[in-house]
Amino acid sequence: MSDMLSITRAARLVGVARSELQKKIQSGEMASHDGMIGVDSLLNCYPNAELEDTSEFQRINQIKERSFGKRVLERVLPDAEVLAARITELGKTLSLSQEQVNKFNVLLHRLWEKLDQLETQDDLSSSKLIINDLKSWIKKEVELAMELGTANPLAIKDSMLHVMTAQVTVLPSKHDFLVDGRDSLLEAAMRAGIPLNYGCSGGNCGLCKAKVVSGEVKKTRHHDFVISHEEQDRGYFLLCSNTAVSDVTLEAPVAGSVQDIPFQQIEAKVKMSGHISDDILLLHLQTPRTHRLRFLAGQRVTLRVGQSFSSQLSIASCPCDDRNVLFHIQRQTGNLFSDYVFDRLKLNDTVEIEGPLGEFILHEKSTRPLCFFVFDNGFAPVKSLIEHALSLEIENIRLYWFGSSQQHIYLPNVAHSWADALDNFYYEEHVLGFDLRSLNANREKMLIKVIENVVAGDSHIIQGDVYIAGAELTVNVVEKYFLGKGFPKTRVSVECVK
Ligand code: FES
Repeated sequence: MSDMLSITRAARLVGVARSELQKKIQSGEMASHDGMIGVDSLLNCYPNAELEDTSEFQRINQIKERSFGKRVLERVLPDAEVLAARITELGKTLSLSQEQVNKFNVLLHRLWEKLDQLETQDDLSSSKLIINDLKSWIKKEVELAMELGTANPLAIKDSMLHVMTAQVTVLPSKHDFLVDGRDSLLEAAMRAGIPLNYGCSGGNCGLCKAKVVSGEVKKTRHHDFVISHEEQDRGYFLLCSNTAVSDVTLEAPVAGSVQDIPFQQIEAKVKMSGHISDDILLLHLQTPRTHRLRFLAGQRVTLRVGQSFSSQLSIASCPCDDRNVLFHIQRQTGNLFSDYVFDRLKLNDTVEIEGPLGEFILHEKSTRPLCFFVFDNGFAPVKSLIEHALSLEIENIRLYWFGSSQQHIYLPNVAHSWADALDNFYYEEHVLGFDLRSLNANREKMLIKVIENVVAGDSHIIQGDVYIAGAELTVNVVEKYFLGKGFPKTRVSVECVK
């Protein structure tokens, strides 16, 4: 086991979220060097770390897995060949360590013989005492070293972790993530919320081409895209068709802004459509396996149904499941798109998706609390952002949901389940009792008063990044309030939903 561990591996070893270790590093409670944590420092903070202590990790993982959808069920042991390669690698390390121990034994034996020889020389009588002393000390130390102590649980767990998972570091962005089970490198990165460049997810487009800098990757899925022999020799491979055998460092582009995501046109099928409330419909679209939707959490797309009835809608799911895309559609009487979706759209019908669009995305580099202000059906893009934030293990999240009526807070159980499962997730809902889509001067005042009270009661908000989503009128009023409070524009993100 190496003396220095990455934050990702250390978190997995002691069974906590990365954010918990990051907090300890920031507060000076835990020492780190170049983003790595020393084993001693880790054991100082978690002296009772045991093999079974994975509760926190499992808790976070369950939430992430719920976001990731059904594909998680396919996760089992790594591919047999990958497993064999990792065990072989572990065997090599073990045999190297044994060889080293043997060499040290021989060295010790020779030293002992030398001391014996010295002891028998008459002219060294004055040093005999010292030699004797030295021999007894060596004897005692060797006996102590040979005693079978208790194995370090972290070392055992680290060996297991090396068999079950591999760690990947991406350059130049320095993102890192673990590859579990049979996941391809692309799937593992998506699960960890890292937007690596890709297109089809199925080995056809070549957009996920990356280069190995160190470590070993293995092709586990067929791909039609051709990588020339020359490129293969230089370490190029496809992220969607390969997994990591050992810990790997690779060069791959990561989408840092909306401009990095290409415009796409996809024909998806209706997988499910059902009412969440009288006025809100949950639409679940599934893209073809080889043509998935690449987007950033919080973005929207144009949906086209029937004879070209279209609407721009926020995506209500996480980019970590790029094949299953969810929408919350508000009934708007007289709107041709909404009428079609509510009254005529059936299972397996085709819906065209175009996009993605919009800049309502997470400021991932910010370490400030995430404060979400949701108004009625503004929950859709916020749900996508929160699921993505949980993939990134960002935990200081405040969610305030304001409804025109109780019915407008249409998925309170989702928000409550986040708050129940996470220590630093705070959720509060407010029923306003007036229609947020038709504000007048009096209602604006009432709305501001409620927001003022919320801000006064939660000290995290003033230090946080604020994300506001809802109908345009409401969003404008609330944005103006925060800017008026002195929030810089870079810390206030807004999204108007239909
Ligand atoms: S994403 Fe298209 S080839 Fe990998």
